[in-house]
Amino acid sequence: MQAVFSQADGKTGLTIQFTGVDDPSLVGVFMIQDDFFRYVNTEFASLLGYRAEELIDRCLLRDVVDPSDWFGVARVVQQVQTGASRALQASFTGRGKNGCCTPVFEAFFHCVDDQSGRSLLGMVHDVTANQKLARYLEQIRHSETKTIHALARICEKRDPYTYGHQERVSDLAVAIARDLGLDERRLEGLALGARIHDIGKIYIPSEILNRPGRLTPAEYQIIKTHSEVGFEIVKDIDFPWPIGDIILQHHERMDGSGYPKGLKGEEIIFEARILAVADTVEAMSAHRPYRPAVGLMSAMNLIKLESGRLYDPDVVETCLKLFAEGRLGDKHFPAQLGAVASASS
Ligand SMILES: [Fe+2]
Repeated sequence: MQAVFSQADGKTGLTIQFTGVDDPSLVGVFMIQDDFFRYVNTEFASLLGYRAEELIDRCLLRDVVDPSDWFGVARVVQQVQTGASRALQASFTGRGKNGCCTPVFEAFFHCVDDQSGRSLLGMVHDVTANQKLARYLEQIRHSETKTIHALARICEKRDPYTYGHQERVSDLAVAIARDLGLDERRLEGLALGARIHDIGKIYIPSEILNRPGRLTPAEYQIIKTHSEVGFEIVKDIDFPWPIGDIILQHHERMDGSGYPKGLKGEEIIFEARILAVADTVEAMSAHRPYRPAVGLMSAMNLIKLESGRLYDPDVVETCLKLFAEGRLGDKHFPAQLGAVASASS
């Protein structure tokens, strides 16, 4: 933040320009000459419940600073005004108009000399406003998570098998991603995307989704629509993570043989490449109403065999390592972990 004083005008003797501040109105600014406000911007005045013109010719200490902070602020102001320091920082509690509010300010005081004499420039931001903003952002994040869980519950009502599958895939994908070094924020997005990655299946007739036996080519084409349908369901929700792409791309494969777009390699976002492996492993190891479980060992063999062709090799390697070392601590695969660990050793 920087203030530049360029030219005189009739009232204040100053024009204030800002550099490095995207929205100057987020910063309260005031100018003091001879102990009185000669200029205040709208933001500073509004933080105290005033209109800007109401503060002109009022006194910083007497009218704006809480008495408990008079000594500290007066000392800083004196040091800057006497030139002992060109700029100093101070925090103080403000006194709003008629006691309407008590914002807590962090203020930067600068000494400015021009043809009209020495002035004190103050730039403040309201710490309590930052705290309110942080709380608001936290609320937004919470509602994003709740939105995903609400969508997951829709899946649960429609198809309990898909719901359980998504939960297990999410846990496995996050374990792999954590080992691969993804940061907590990306892990959160991956976990949530994985929780609803098959949400498009709510539009697939259950007699196709859950019937025993091989699917006809036509039925398989219908099933394949679920990633695009899932994308359509979430695409207008403004998540801070690529939830739509995670859903859309979870059946893409490294060599371009996947669907819906036939993306290759790094055209597929990393979260979707992780999800592809977790999805395959979980789907093969779990029982379905229309077929028995193929088994975790077979799943491990498949991803190993197809590493690099269908699946990201780094993801496969990490997944195999997690199971081999028994590091999942997983409620979902406990009976089969020992078998994989002993077979790998
Ligand atoms: Fe899927």
